[in-house]
Amino acid sequence: MQNLIKRVKYKGWFIFDLPYFIRENKFKKGIELGAKAGRSMFFMLRANKNLQLTGIDLWEMIEGGAYKNSNKNEVKCKHKLRKFNNRVTLIKGDAKQIADNIPDEEFDFIYYDLQCKLMTGVHQEMISKWVPKIKKNGVLIGRDFRDFRTAFYNLGYNDEDFKKCMIGKRASDRLEYLVIK
Ligand SMILES: C[S@@+](CC[C@H](N)C(=O)[O-])C[C@H]1O[C@@H](n2cnc3c(N)ncnc32)[C@H](O)[C@@H]1O
Repeated sequence: MQNLIKRVKYKGWFIFDLPYFIRENKFKKGIELGAKAGRSMFFMLRANKNLQLTGIDLWEMIEGGAYKNSNKNEVKCKHKLRKFNNRVTLIKGDAKQIADNIPDEEFDFIYYDLQCKLMTGVHQEMISKWVPKIKKNGVLIGRDFRDFRTAFYNLGYNDEDFKKCMIGKRASDRLEYLVIK
């Protein structure tokens, strides 16, 4: 039973942990890089009635088992988020290029969820382009930062900079964040 609960919490980071963390921090304006079919955006928006959220994705066929239907994800995402229309902006394209058109210090948080084969070797540049878009004392949140720590080290961050998202007294198994100074 304990194992089952642990597994649900690990798998359910987008249902419980991310929406909770956004709510606890009273974030009002955020962006998700890697919106896919709108799953994590849906739960953030549902739990945070005053949240304005932008989502970016390529929405094209890419390599990897989880992306067999990637070309359908744009339609799926729009459909999933339809009832939050007045609080959602969706942008299709390469997040690296889109960053050039976003003003600095625009968001309270970025939820960074771009990890896939296509992004191999690209995270460092992507992160360096997006960090300035976060307000001072805002946060960069991710669930896979362990997979590309080197990109962060090369940008001057170290292990102590990474904090676990706290869900009440529980540390999220997946989600970490960096505070932007
Ligand atoms: C791990 S999935 C996102 C999962 C999603 N956040 C969820 O909760 O279901 C990664 C997504 O990043 C997108 N992606 C990868 N490289 C990208 C890039 N350079 N610009 C925009 N989107 C990108 C992919 O199309 C894919 O949908």
